[in-house]
Amino acid sequence: MEEELIQIKNTAVSLILEVSDKKTLEEIKLQFLGRSGKLTLVIKDIAKLPIENRPEVGRLANEVKKAIENTIATQELRIRQLTDRESGLKQKIDVTAPGIKPNIGHLHPMTQVLMDVIDVFKTLGFQVADGPEIETDYYNFEALNIPKYHPARDAQQTLYLDTRKSKVTPGKIILRTQTSSMQGRIMEKTKPPVRVIVPGKNFRYEQVDASHGFEFWQVEGFMVDTNVRLTDLFGTIDYVLRQLMGQGIKLKFAATNFPFVEPGVDTYIECTVCKGQGCSFCKQSGWSEIMPAGMIHPNVLKAVGYDSQKVSGFAFAIGLSRLVTLRYQMDDLRLLTNPDLRILEQF
Ligand code: DAH
Repeated sequence: MEEELIQIKNTAVSLILEVSDKKTLEEIKLQFLGRSGKLTLVIKDIAKLPIENRPEVGRLANEVKKAIENTIATQELRIRQLTDRESGLKQKIDVTAPGIKPNIGHLHPMTQVLMDVIDVFKTLGFQVADGPEIETDYYNFEALNIPKYHPARDAQQTLYLDTRKSKVTPGKIILRTQTSSMQGRIMEKTKPPVRVIVPGKNFRYEQVDASHGFEFWQVEGFMVDTNVRLTDLFGTIDYVLRQLMGQGIKLKFAATNFPFVEPGVDTYIECTVCKGQGCSFCKQSGWSEIMPAGMIHPNVLKAVGYDSQKVSGFAFAIGLSRLVTLRYQMDDLRLLTNPDLRILEQF
């Protein structure tokens, strides 16, 4: 019976490989695998064999069946490809028909706006730097005149890294809450004059809403030189925001407090979503806070080894996601991280 099975396999396979049309292939299939096909009948006869021979013959029969089925499948595919090609050749090709436009992606609106921001600052002589998102407590707080237990820490709900299995003192490694953390890192290594911007992501344990995210982009920037004054800061902010948002925008400044600047300045832009009328995005105020800033505190300059009697500087942060939503009059920050193509295709 084994010999018979092998013979069936050889005949079937060579017959199948010669076929060039679907119909004949179907016939051969029936001839071997159909209800009264050659292989089917032999398989039925296995039951008549002495019991100890059955498993081995059964296994062989199975192998033969699989081999035949596989060859049929491959041949089927070959025949299909052949017919497709022939019918393709027969079709006339209209070379004047308009082509099919491939779907090409584009830069995310955040990236587009970030590139604009970088371009504007480059014209003012600023360099661009990058820094770690996993940061030390020192650069994120201490070096910025925010010592342990300072109330300003409460405003920046910090996410701490679990360092229990390492040698790091607990509480020393965090996800940065502000790109201001790069002030210390950069100034420590650079002698004034410095002019740098640092675009990057920050993380806070925040209640997410239309204008707040737990993960958000800022462009930190600072400049230190001899004789840098508050008016230089105002002039820079005014110039940059008009370049980015249009000459006609309305801006206003207000005094505020951040431990690493003195005085601190809040920059507001008239809300573009409601044109100053008041909406949920601007919390009904008609204004949106966009660029906090200030004159760098002498303690920050001292921490990096600068002589605060000889040099002075200003620092600022642009809320990048806020800038994007304001530029495109989007009323919810969360749309920017929504992967729905119907949103992204609009930019
Ligand atoms: N780092 C501050 C924050 O995220 C924002 C900020 C305020 C940055 C004033 C500055 C500054 O550089 O001068 O809340």
